[in-house]
Amino acid sequence: MSPKICKMLDTILNHRSIRNYKNDPVSQPVLDEILMAGIRASTTGNMQVYSIIVTSDPIQKEKLWEVHFKQNMVLQSPLILTFCADFHRFNSWCRQRRADPGYNNFLSFFTAAIDALLVAQNCALAAEANGLGICYLGTTTYNADKIIEILQLPESVVPITTLVLGYPADNPELTDRLPAEAVVHLEKYRDYKANDIDRLYAEKESLPLTSRLLEENGLETLAQIFTERRYTRKDNEFFSGKFLEVIRKQGFMDS
Ligand SMILES: Cc1cc2nc3c(=O)[nH]c(=O)nc-3n(C[C@H](O)[C@H](O)[C@H](O)COP(=O)(O)O)c2cc1C
Repeated sequence: MSPKICKMLDTILNHRSIRNYKNDPVSQPVLDEILMAGIRASTTGNMQVYSIIVTSDPIQKEKLWEVHFKQNMVLQSPLILTFCADFHRFNSWCRQRRADPGYNNFLSFFTAAIDALLVAQNCALAAEANGLGICYLGTTTYNADKIIEILQLPESVVPITTLVLGYPADNPELTDRLPAEAVVHLEKYRDYKANDIDRLYAEKESLPLTSRLLEENGLETLAQIFTERRYTRKDNEFFSGKFLEVIRKQGFMDS
């Protein structure tokens, strides 16, 4: 394996989310390289139906911190990248060139969201290859309406995900993953029997972190931590409704 590929895999296989950052700024050449790596990602029909909003201004950061559920790392990290599904620019180009854009529908929203996510992950890897740490913020979709206001996103633009970036102030352990056989299917989907589920989740369930979480939360199983604490039905239904409304308001459900 070439040293370049070896380094790339090393970056990928050593990924861990960083939630504590040093004060050090990210230099413009490093940021430019991260953004270029994002822009090099595959993109549907080479349309590039995404935008990246770069935030480093402390006032803007504080506004974003509020709507990202006050997660500390938003204030701590020097740089925040918000990745948006964006048909606004493409629609403008079409109209200026006597072309009638038919992109005010859910399929186009989903297409642009896929584009935005591919860009985000390329940026994440480029950042990590430069010695930076990253963490995604799922709170982007929860409070997309407020992020639209803060970042002044026009019609046909919806924030999809956010990365905080900076030099790591800690080096957490690698987190666990399910074994490959849990997520890879050969030729056809092979459904899971009860004993497959038991086997595939056994390692995760026996981690010291799991015992700690169960004790702290007074719950019986790790699955209940997800359903009763982290991602509850009530929250999921509430934020689903809110996000659907955002997609509609931004003009992606008109046809
Ligand atoms: C779309 C997405 C949203 C996430 N949102 C958050 C978040 O809001 N806060 C947080 O601390 N971590 C967030 N994470 C990080 C995950 O919790 C983390 O990737 C996962 O626990 C695995 O840990 P690792 O990245 O260190 O391997 C998010 C990850 C993804 C992919």
